[in-house]
Amino acid sequence: MTDTPKGLSRNVANYGDRDFALYLRRSFAASMGYSRQALEKPVVGIADTASDYNNCHRSVPELKDAVKRGVMMAGALPLAFPTVSLCEPSLTPTSMHYRNLMALDTEAMLSAQPMDAAVLIGGCDKTVPAQLMAAASADIPCVMLVTGPMLAQRFEGERLAACTDCRRYWARYRAGDVSADRIGEIEGKLATTAGTCGVMGTASTMACIAATLGFMPLMAASAPAVHADRLRLAEEAGATAVRLIANPIRPSQLITAKSVENALRVLLALGGSTNALVHLTAIAGRAGVTVDLKRLDALSEETPVLVDLKPTGDGYMEDFHAAGGMVALLRELRDLLHLDTIDLHGRTLAEQIDAGTPFVDRTYIRARAEPVSPVGGLVSLFGTLAPDGAILKRSAATPALFETEARCLVFDGLADLAARIDSDDLDVTPQDILILKNTGPLTPAGMPEAGYLPIPKKLARAGVKDMVRMSDCRMSGTAFGTIVLHITPEAAAGGPLGLVETGDRVRLSVKDRRLDLLVEEAELARRRAAWTPPARPRRGWDRLVFDQVLQATEGADLAFLRPDGE
Ligand code: FES
Ligand code: MG
Repeated sequence: MTDTPKGLSRNVANYGDRDFALYLRRSFAASMGYSRQALEKPVVGIADTASDYNNCHRSVPELKDAVKRGVMMAGALPLAFPTVSLCEPSLTPTSMHYRNLMALDTEAMLSAQPMDAAVLIGGCDKTVPAQLMAAASADIPCVMLVTGPMLAQRFEGERLAACTDCRRYWARYRAGDVSADRIGEIEGKLATTAGTCGVMGTASTMACIAATLGFMPLMAASAPAVHADRLRLAEEAGATAVRLIANPIRPSQLITAKSVENALRVLLALGGSTNALVHLTAIAGRAGVTVDLKRLDALSEETPVLVDLKPTGDGYMEDFHAAGGMVALLRELRDLLHLDTIDLHGRTLAEQIDAGTPFVDRTYIRARAEPVSPVGGLVSLFGTLAPDGAILKRSAATPALFETEARCLVFDGLADLAARIDSDDLDVTPQDILILKNTGPLTPAGMPEAGYLPIPKKLARAGVKDMVRMSDCRMSGTAFGTIVLHITPEAAAGGPLGLVETGDRVRLSVKDRRLDLLVEEAELARRRAAWTPPARPRRGWDRLVFDQVLQATEGADLAFLRPDGE
């Protein structure tokens, strides 16, 4: 044993007299009613992300109580602390703009406060990535506990859950197919229990990735938020954190080139969210592991989509859980995975898979011989429009549009899009490519989920369901369509996307993995000379983001938060 200080003796405040600092800390802690005996225990910090703004975290108080129970039964002192909490629909300009703030806040609190291990309670899209980024940088033993997915609601012979059904109904409303009264009624039926979105959106994809990386048990990725198992998982998370104090396994031991590659395989086999790629890249980057889009593409060619959940398929997360969840999925992928990666207990992935139940419902988790798709859900594209890459979720796209060369209709930013997309005199045909620029990580828009450009109203009314759409922003993990995202470099960073004008011809070739702007170099040079870079925000977080944010293909982290600091 080393004599590294434990519990409240860690991270002593600096008053120039260590013993006095400890004396002061204990006396203030005692003012909260803790006994001397309690204050001598090792400490498990609990990142408490309950917030009245975060519906997806509504169950956090209950989970926190169960974590505390687990910690105390295992002989340590649980101390919960608040951090930034981010809920998708509650933040402007977008939750993504604040993911790195939550990561920074969480890392600072994990590092500055006295704790020997931590349980991170997250769930909504940006919270789990932020917490894993923080864990990687603080590098103290951390257990991830997600709030878990909501249950779908039965409604008039179908099931509804956030938020693929939200989009489906909204598209029908825009097409004039669903009335204003009806859309108002459905609004109250889309999200009816605690928990994260009930489909394979970003939150669910990130939960599966966190489990694959080893930060929580495999079945914890999908156990419903309201199920008693979720509380037992919380209790177990507390106990695991205490075990980690004596037998530390640090985030840097979990986030490795091999485990990140396993996570990419899982992302592909799930037909998971495109956002998860940005987040996984950022998490890996904190541990010095690079995610390369060309490698992703190679993995995608040999990794089948096996999970049949919305937004690309039929089921909800509760179906995935009942069908065998991550254990069943990883068994199918076995020969494609690095089986020697470990979890927080030091168990190899092979051991984790073999420990699970053999039951599988093939409706939702397919056998390798009968995949949903023989190839993975994502492809990466490169070309004169995206020199550093872009991405397309082919599992959510229309194959008939995979090879498209067409005239493009360009929107300069979100305001321009909102002002013109629904006007009756918009010069647009179903064959055109819609392009949105100035929405990347560097812009005040903050890389929002606006990549799912609405079908212009006049075309939607005529029955058009999909068109090729392109941008430097993201789309929701619960969305679908032939949508090219994360074009890098973004328009605001001086990328070719910033030079595209309405009427230019653009070519998408999924077969060749190309995305090209068919404009003469001389003309582009003329436009480049006239291009003006965006203004630097005057102050605050926006300014820090502007000065430091990396491009989407690098995870859109802040440069100074990466291990090399640049
Ligand atoms: Fe929180 Fe979807 S809004 S997970
Ligand atoms: Mg989402």
